[in-house]
Amino acid sequence: SKGNLENLKTLVLEALPASDKDDLLLAKGLDYHIVIKWGDQISDKDTFGFNNDFTCFIPLDEKNPKDGLLWVNHEYINPLFVSDFDYEKYENPQKHRTKAQVDKEMYNVGGSIVRVKEENGQWKVVQNDPLNRRITAQTPMRLNWDMPIKGKTTVIGTHSNCSGGITPWKTFITCEENYDSFFGETEYDKNNQATHIPSLYDWEKFYNYPPEHYGWVVEINPKDGTAQKHIALGRFAHECCTLYELADKRIVAYTGDDKNNEHLYKFISSKPGSLKEGTLYVANTEKGQWLALDWETQPALKKKFKDQTEVLIRAREAAKLLGATELNRPEDIEIDPITGNIFVSLTNNNSKKDFHGSILKIEETKGAFDALTFKASTYLAGGEENGFSCPDNLAFDLAGNLWMTSDISGSSMNKKGKPYMPFKNNGLFVIPRHGKDAGKVIRVASAPRDAELTGPWFSPDGKTLFLSVQHPGEQTKDVKNPTSQWPFDKDNIPKPAVVAITGDLIEKMNKLNKI
Ligand code: FEO
Ligand code: CA
Ligand code: CA
Ligand code: CA
Repeated sequence: SKGNLENLKTLVLEALPASDKDDLLLAKGLDYHIVIKWGDQISDKDTFGFNNDFTCFIPLDEKNPKDGLLWVNHEYINPLFVSDFDYEKYENPQKHRTKAQVDKEMYNVGGSIVRVKEENGQWKVVQNDPLNRRITAQTPMRLNWDMPIKGKTTVIGTHSNCSGGITPWKTFITCEENYDSFFGETEYDKNNQATHIPSLYDWEKFYNYPPEHYGWVVEINPKDGTAQKHIALGRFAHECCTLYELADKRIVAYTGDDKNNEHLYKFISSKPGSLKEGTLYVANTEKGQWLALDWETQPALKKKFKDQTEVLIRAREAAKLLGATELNRPEDIEIDPITGNIFVSLTNNNSKKDFHGSILKIEETKGAFDALTFKASTYLAGGEENGFSCPDNLAFDLAGNLWMTSDISGSSMNKKGKPYMPFKNNGLFVIPRHGKDAGKVIRVASAPRDAELTGPWFSPDGKTLFLSVQHPGEQTKDVKNPTSQWPFDKDNIPKPAVVAITGDLIEKMNKLNKI
């Protein structure tokens, strides 16, 4: 239309140069304000957790895009800030850990539901709204499965919540990624003998929760806070879970395992609206095949595992037995709203000298999301030529422009001798769909020191981009001298926070449609 053409002509996309400044910097045409940060009160009894990652927004009333519920993942903790424990101070830190520290850490992961409203261009938390609540590593939740796991059908808590999604029936999906950090992992040798691999944070010293209770896709009902874990979607380091509802209301769910040389999965339900009845598949991207992780029909699985429950718990091993393709750490997955192609960020794989990662494009056969064959190709490769490295979260806006964040780890960022020097701090990028910059990768935000920008999510009217600023100052060794001070509070302590990005650029990009 004429209006859209006007937008295109007047749109000025000025890329932000890479920066190592300790601040959240935005391209011209963008502003931000903080919606909520770590430690903020959300009700009389609850506070906002640490290391916010995924964010998503559901309006309470479809007609009002300025009032709704924000779901925010709290992925992990930094004990130095959260529980005042310094792992580097002791030779055997595990001996010095206390239950009080672990309880504090368990409270600070999981997720937050907060009602937020926009007035005069500012998003604010509705204090004490009855829907505000915390889900933590101590919240009981049921398993959506007919068999118990390690003797339980109800398990305690969720943690390692990285990315997620929204179901067609308007509940939140939150994914348990690096679960082994908290209760360790069970590993099997070639004789199928199990060993417990200890966790990074020693929670199992105080709570005897089996690792098998974590590593699942979790669904949260925003109305009452009830939670369930979807066993049928398999157990691994779920970065995200992206759902598509077929015309007959069956559900297709794409989910990636963010670990070196792990896989990409797809669940297809056999019943409408189910995340239990159906089949989990894993991708062989060379052959373009989805391979069924089905104990009944796969002799190789029947030989190794005792039943389907064990196949799902040990999905990684089952996938390798079937010949799944080992990928370079699949992170976020988004479906192009215009073409239906599926985009998967492969963040990097240092074990294979892929330092900058890429974005993988999946085209399902005949565009059918329940197809069992597909074509895979590289859409964009990371590196200096394309101006980004280590892609992580993806989001399409209302006009089909692709937004992307980077996750260069704090220990390699801005370090001499590492391949990440030219990229400086992490960023937010947009790949315009139309106009003179179509297909280019344009940096529009630069993160504070050591931070990663995560969880980009557009408000339903396309006027706000919710974004998490996760782990600023993560490389801090001494709390009195943090590596970042963002968001520049009086106490100088860096704090993860959710920001609302608004401005001309967001509004115009969201309108650049159907030119
Ligand atoms: Fe939590 Fe794969 O990033
Ligand atoms: Ca991530
Ligand atoms: Ca996403
Ligand atoms: Ca990441």
